Amino acid sequence: MHDVVDAVNTDRFKLNRLTPGPQLDSLVVDVHAGLTGSPRSLPPKYFYDETGSKLFDQICQTKEYYLTRAESALLRKYADDIIATVKPAAIVEYGSGTSEKTELLIQAANQHNDWVHYLPLDVCEEILIEAASRLIARYPWLSIDAWHGDFLHDMQRFENHHERSLYTFLGSSLGNFSNKQAIRFLRDVRETASEDDWFLLGVDMVKDAAVLNAAYNDSDGYTAAFNLNLLNVLNQSLDGDFNTDNFIHHAFFDTDKSRIEMQLRSTREQTITLREIDLEIKFDDGEHIVTEYSRKYTKESIQQLLISAGFSPHQVYTGDNNEFMLILSSCNKFK
Ligand code: AVJ
Repeated sequence: MHDVVDAVNTDRFKLNRLTPGPQLDSLVVDVHAGLTGSPRSLPPKYFYDETGSKLFDQICQTKEYYLTRAESALLRKYADDIIATVKPAAIVEYGSGTSEKTELLIQAANQHNDWVHYLPLDVCEEILIEAASRLIARYPWLSIDAWHGDFLHDMQRFENHHERSLYTFLGSSLGNFSNKQAIRFLRDVRETASEDDWFLLGVDMVKDAAVLNAAYNDSDGYTAAFNLNLLNVLNQSLDGDFNTDNFIHHAFFDTDKSRIEMQLRSTREQTITLREIDLEIKFDDGEHIVTEYSRKYTKESIQQLLISAGFSPHQVYTGDNNEFMLILSSCNKFK
């Protein structure tokens, strides 16, 4: 791995680490706490091994899952407007993934600055390197300072020396957090940023329950496969014996909590073992594991949350169909 890192560290591309040490430690702690808790749960960040990432890409192409298409359309439509307001010298992105949507902002930023800096943060080093290599090759005026690690836990290690930065958190990933985690994450971002900086957030909107339910129960079964793949991830990393035939995908919109709840339900009484951590779990027939919440916001609820974290919402972009929103906030209290 170090050879790869050294090979990509050039004057236009640096790779840094937020989290020293192996990622496995947090997996062990998270899985143990989640599976022994009540209700049983698993953190959604472990969905994204290679298979899981590919399944997620396939979900994004289903006719039911509108989120990614809607957000891309908003960025295509409003990137210039956002950049004209912020005029950023640098773009910081939490959970950058393939950086495909952010590329629209990066291109627009070059219209105001000869030189653009991009600081992507992601838990997956391979994707960071792949995305950065693609962007570096494509844009001679771009430099990239990539940060590998879990930004939820190690935000303080991240350094940004650029003035006038646009911080971004796209893809409705905020929806995966509990309210407490969301506030804490947003406050961390606000503390990391300076008064002159801006924050662009992409979240999904509350809408007809039938549309939301369909988006998380696509007819090709990619969401079900994505959900069940989490058990394969545990089998591989913790020497487990989950049989994916003995669990089913279940996802529904909880109107009161304004969120999709995604579960894996045991279809029989069964005991599974994770040998790596000496953990045995007995499941009743019908007992479930919560694998993901995906919170849906209104214009009011998201602005409220941003204000309580210290941001000043400046503009909410929803497009014509009110499917998805991008919220641009200033970090300055008086703007
Ligand atoms: C990537 C977190 C935005 O919550 O909609 C897609 C993940 N889960 N289908 C979401 C997901 C099931 C997705 N996010």
